[in-house]
Amino acid sequence: MSGIEEVLAKATEIQKRAYAPYSGFYVGAVLESETGTLHVGCNVENASLGLTLCAERAALVAGVAAGDRAFRRLVLVTSGDEAIPPCGACREALAEFAPDLPIISFAGEARREWTLGELLPQPFELENPRG
Ligand code: THU
Repeated sequence: MSGIEEVLAKATEIQKRAYAPYSGFYVGAVLESETGTLHVGCNVENASLGLTLCAERAALVAGVAAGDRAFRRLVLVTSGDEAIPPCGACREALAEFAPDLPIISFAGEARREWTLGELLPQPFELENPRG
């Protein structure tokens, strides 16, 4: 498992790529796979505000597209001075692959930790009728 300093540095780097001209809230995410690959994402806003993509889901789709489906840690770096958890939509998306994912969030000097199971104890589940 990569050291937290290394993952935090990577999240801080990717946060600089965030495109957030409407909110001014910049988010960098690093999603670590079970095999140690670090997948990155940043928020990408749009003039049609509802199309905005969060950093967490950007990292998740990058990871899945790279061939990973098992993840062991999410590290976030955000603007401001209050460490924030992923939004509800991102919790649902992450729970699809890692329902008890450990999450560490940083903002300035602030640091908070949760598991996804704490943040979303009852994710939506759909039984696949095609088996
Ligand atoms: N945002 C994220 O990237 N992740 C979250 O979990 C919460 C919000 C982004 C979306 C938008 O670009 C900005 O933060 C303000 O909501």
